[in-house]
Amino acid sequence: MNFREYKVGARMFGICLGGSMCITLLMPSYDFRSATSTDMALRKQLSAGWETGWNVQDPLMLGHNKPLTVTVKADPKTGAALPEPMTVFVYEKGVHMPNAADHPDNLGASVEKLSLDKGHIGEFDSATGAVYTIDHDNGVPYVENLTATKSWTPDEVMAKASDLDVAHVGAGKTMFVREGCWWCHTLLPEETQDWQVFGAPPYLGDFNGESPTAFGSDRKAPDLLHVGSRNSSREWMMLHFFNPRLVQPHSIMPRFDYLWGEKDAKGNKIDYDKWRAEYTEYREGKRENPPEVPSYAPNSDIRALIDFMLSLK
Ligand code: HEC
Repeated sequence: MNFREYKVGARMFGICLGGSMCITLLMPSYDFRSATSTDMALRKQLSAGWETGWNVQDPLMLGHNKPLTVTVKADPKTGAALPEPMTVFVYEKGVHMPNAADHPDNLGASVEKLSLDKGHIGEFDSATGAVYTIDHDNGVPYVENLTATKSWTPDEVMAKASDLDVAHVGAGKTMFVREGCWWCHTLLPEETQDWQVFGAPPYLGDFNGESPTAFGSDRKAPDLLHVGSRNSSREWMMLHFFNPRLVQPHSIMPRFDYLWGEKDAKGNKIDYDKWRAEYTEYREGKRENPPEVPSYAPNSDIRALIDFMLSLK
């Protein structure tokens, strides 16, 4: 090889190696917690809870011990109607508190201070559970512990809530992790033309305290970070999860009909074999319409998964 070319090559290599070493050495010195939590980060960590992957409290990933997202229309203590419905996150007795409660320094300095001083987030008792909400002070979001500030208890809030007011977002995220949705879907629109279809790419402060983030790495299917904003139809989600080919004829997405479980909303046994036989007849042109998708039971896995999908705004 010509000596001059060798020297140019060696210098280029040196610059690249030096650059990457600088990044390797500088990155650990950056404190990611200095990123201030955004509204989105607080919503994600409060709705999903401490940890929605595998953990000792839910070893089989059944969606147990997770918080509930509840819409409150009237003060559960006095019964007086609220000026506008409020979203609260109910941590019933035994549910692991969100990261914000155990490690408020993860929220970023300004949100941490407000959450501790105004939101009383440090004053929780795992034995009784707690009710949280997201409040704002001059546009800065913070976590408010309503059990400490208004003495709203999980039991009181749940006693007043109807099933329609409750979203099992935390359990739904566990389903998302367990079922491997991240194998095809990302939760990370990129800084490219992506945002035109999938919505805004997230900021650094959008993930504080979220575990796991479930970004995904290899996208084979639409990004889902904002899916609830572009598609808020529970019926569409139902059809699509039971068998994606009912609404997207060429979809490669697997069917997740087994998440309906044994029984439908009315308590009748779901006959999967019959359904599939009728669906095959429909595909072969022997039936005019596909068989009807069973309505799901309120405590089914699919209900939680759809609640989680619709919460992704
Ligand atoms: C084998 C890859 C694959 C897996 C695994 C998969 N999906 Fe999909 N998904 C797709 C593809 C491809 C599409 C686009 C076509 C369609 O709508 O079916 C899609 C579409 C969707 C949509 C509609 C997106 C939109 O933009 O409206 C939702 C919601 C969705 N998937 C949720 C899920 C969830 C939740 C899981 C896990 C339970 C999952 N998917 C697992 C491939 C997959």
